[in-house]
Amino acid sequence: MRQLIAGNWKMNCLLQDAVALAQGIAAGADGIAADLLVCPTALHLAAVAQALQGGAVAVGGQDCHQEKQGAHTGDIAAPMLRDAGASWVILGHSERRQNHGETDELIREKTLAAVDAGLTPIVCVGETADQRQGGQETEVVGWQIAGSLPKPFTGAIAYEPIWAIGTGKTATEQDVAMMHAFIREELVRQFGDAGHAIRILYGGSVRAANAASLLAVPNVGGALIGGASLKADEFLAIARAAQPG
Ligand code: 13P
Repeated sequence: MRQLIAGNWKMNCLLQDAVALAQGIAAGADGIAADLLVCPTALHLAAVAQALQGGAVAVGGQDCHQEKQGAHTGDIAAPMLRDAGASWVILGHSERRQNHGETDELIREKTLAAVDAGLTPIVCVGETADQRQGGQETEVVGWQIAGSLPKPFTGAIAYEPIWAIGTGKTATEQDVAMMHAFIREELVRQFGDAGHAIRILYGGSVRAANAASLLAVPNVGGALIGGASLKADEFLAIARAAQPG
């Protein structure tokens, strides 16, 4: 399967910058041997989707509510993301787990809602620095996988160690190889053969300079990129480092 190179724009860009960034990425996307995805803030999703219409770059949301509709002030339902042009959605990002108290159970409900609306979810997992120091990284990620994924699961996982997000501290290739092999084992244990086909993205300080070595690690199915996805050239350079699938 082709690798997926996904940009999580988080709470960045004003509308004009977001559309220009999307256009810059689309303009350089020819000949790239990876699936490309950008995830702008929900407010910009329709404009970005329109700018990318018919091209090779897909659009995704950064979160959705677990209900289809209703009295949930300030929230966004999965069918609304779909309606605005999204085909993917990031769920359970550590910034949402930490800043909004999202639990595995809630993320599982959101994942079901996303799939129901025709979106492909990217479910994020990853340990804190303290948990890694305490040798608990596999235990934590194992619980997150067991709790956050519905059965069956059709989507991708993103392994994003929290200590590597926005810090410039990338996990070593050995860390990534070990954690992705562990996640693959868990997926196969939970989902049988289908677990082999689930893409496992790595996220955490991915840049053009380290992309080739990270993307070459076994069981790495792509990258989820924050800061470096906000520059078209840098994002495209990461995408060009993808392994042909
Ligand atoms: P950075 O690439 O800025 O470390 O962010 C990673 C991330 O959180 C992507 O979801």
